Amino acid sequence: MAGATSNKTKAEPDSIVRARALLKSPAAKREFDPKTGFLDVIGDRKEPVNPATIAMQLPLVSAIYERWWRPGLTRIAKGLNGPSMSAEYASAHQLLKIKRGDTVLDLACGPGNFSRRFARAVAPDGLVVGYDGSKSMLDRAVHEAAQDETPSLAFVRGEATALPFKAKSFDSVCCFAALHMFPKPFETLAEIARVLKPGGHVALLTTNVSAGGLTAFSANAFGVASGMKMFKEDQMRAELKKAGFKIDSQEAAGATQMIGAVLV
Ligand SMILES: C[S@@+](CC[C@H](N)C(=O)[O-])C[C@H]1O[C@@H](n2cnc3c(N)ncnc32)[C@H](O)[C@@H]1O
Repeated sequence: MAGATSNKTKAEPDSIVRARALLKSPAAKREFDPKTGFLDVIGDRKEPVNPATIAMQLPLVSAIYERWWRPGLTRIAKGLNGPSMSAEYASAHQLLKIKRGDTVLDLACGPGNFSRRFARAVAPDGLVVGYDGSKSMLDRAVHEAAQDETPSLAFVRGEATALPFKAKSFDSVCCFAALHMFPKPFETLAEIARVLKPGGHVALLTTNVSAGGLTAFSANAFGVASGMKMFKEDQMRAELKKAGFKIDSQEAAGATQMIGAVLV
């Protein structure tokens, strides 16, 4: 993230100024604290607490997330034949049709593992906004982005149910490994549609319990224990359609599904 400043009197980094221009009031008026490096639009409001999101708020998990937690846990969920992390990164780029100059929302960006890659693809004219509710994930995201001075990248802290962005702000929205954690996931789909430009793309990686029998039973039991929502493939298609999307592709891997859709 280029140009982080050291006290509140200095100018905001250019990427934060550009992200702020996408925000609705009152979020647009929130003060940027250069000590954190991200724009916090929910402030001291309590982070959502359920078993699925508690881990996401622990600094230890944020520190090991990108290298160990995410590849390890999603390998179990995707199954041995499911896509690798590098295949996931490539699929996200492809489903979102990311190109130089685009404005991209990485919704529930965690430590910015996808955001940084998108930012390199849209730079220097485009902008990626990494958006997440967890302070510790965003601390990590800011730290990682500073390592390679990733350009065109801003991080914003907020809640997924009501996005603080103006309508038609983004060319594409990525939401990987997160929709099933949101309190109202289908309201978030409507919000994604609202903030996308017409013809904009969304890419989702989420849970999948379409298989019957024991697999579905254990996935549902895991969902109840973890607080994660378990979606079916036809349910995701129906909800996306209801939100105004046309499905481009939908691929299942183990207990996951990856979907690309376009706003029509
Ligand atoms: C498993 S991580 C996904 C990170 C990244 N997208 C990836 O695919 O590796 C899920 C993220 O969703 C965020 N999250 C969960 N519920 C949220 C909510 N209601 N609002 C905003 N962020 C939320 C968590 O803080 C966490 O960083």
